Amino acid sequence: AKTYKIAVIPGDGIGKEVTPWAQKALEQAAQGVAEFEYEHFDLGAERYLRDGAILPEDEEARIRANDAILLGAVGDPRIKAGILERGLLLKLRFDFDQYINLRPSKLYRGVTSPLANPGEIDFVVVREGTEGLYCGAGGAVRRGTPQEVATEVSINTAYGAERVVRYAFQLAMKRRKHVTLVHKKNVLVNAGDMWQRLVDKVGAEFPEVSHDYCHIDAATIYLVSDPGRFDVILTDNLFGDILTDEAGAVVGGVGYSASGCINATDEFPSMFEPIHGSAPDIAGQHKANPTAAILSAAMLLEHLGFDEAAQRIHRAVEADIAELGSTARTTEEVGRDILARM
Ligand code: NAD
Ligand code: IPM
Ligand code: MN
Repeated sequence: AKTYKIAVIPGDGIGKEVTPWAQKALEQAAQGVAEFEYEHFDLGAERYLRDGAILPEDEEARIRANDAILLGAVGDPRIKAGILERGLLLKLRFDFDQYINLRPSKLYRGVTSPLANPGEIDFVVVREGTEGLYCGAGGAVRRGTPQEVATEVSINTAYGAERVVRYAFQLAMKRRKHVTLVHKKNVLVNAGDMWQRLVDKVGAEFPEVSHDYCHIDAATIYLVSDPGRFDVILTDNLFGDILTDEAGAVVGGVGYSASGCINATDEFPSMFEPIHGSAPDIAGQHKANPTAAILSAAMLLEHLGFDEAAQRIHRAVEADIAELGSTARTTEEVGRDILARM
């Protein structure tokens, strides 16, 4: 049988605290099903402060040689914002062409939602992963002067958007068959119009799937007033980033929100990570919820085709939350409780 190679990048802050639990869950879920071999990468703030390295070429090549990547989080208050986020995390997403950023949100039984009447919440955000305002196109002119001009240009290609649109419709076919495009086409008339035309075109290939449209500002309202209306939310890189943090909050906290940065061609490894960051405000306090990282391991298993192993994780997480979701527990306690149910 094939041994699957997994690159593990815990990164910074709570990334280092939650990732070991994701790896343990992966290992345990795959027992008797698949062999995994792990390669750890010392990348992130400590490494950068030590020797200035962010993502050396040879290490990136070694990461690429893996079947999938498990990542914690990057970012550290001692380091200027953007250095690690762009140089490490976004570089991996871009270089490995992880164009689908898949972010499911589900309200588990036993979790207290901040909404008074949450109803059933079960939707997936299909966020574009390699374009838009994240491209790094732009710059600062006359920096530090009163005449400073700062630009970031949003780049949207038909090729890049269409593959994400198609993925969203294919995903909707396996779900409740509804796609909501979220954009700001009343203002961003170029990109918004292109996204809408691609949705109309691709949507015509999926007659069973209905689709509608929301402006991003209204979408943030519906996410709290009527989240049950959403099945598959399709959106660009920045809107998807913002909306999924809100989605995390609505289902009880980003500590439950997993994601996959997916290259659906298998040309490059896909990367699985909680949607949250390094949380310097709670790092080192054993307060981080490892559930999002553990659910990211389940997404990794699904991606590699081990659905039954992934289900083991899902069932353990569901049972854990149903019974103990409202109790205050340390990272280690949650991790151990979930593993014990597998
Ligand atoms: P954050 O997601 O780290 O934290 C936001 C809030 O959520 C904080 O109050 C934090 O305590 C809480 N939180 C996050 N994860 C939690 C968990 N598992 N359990 C319990 N509470 C949790 O976002 P931020 O504070 O805006 O960013 C902190 C750093 O992380 C920054 O450097 C940022 O760039 C980086 N970041 C990295 C990633 C990533 O690596 N994918 C994602 C987001 C932010
Ligand atoms: C996320 C994060 C990243 C993003 C940052 C850290 C680059 O917020 O994964 O949601 O904006 O995609
Ligand atoms: Mn984010």
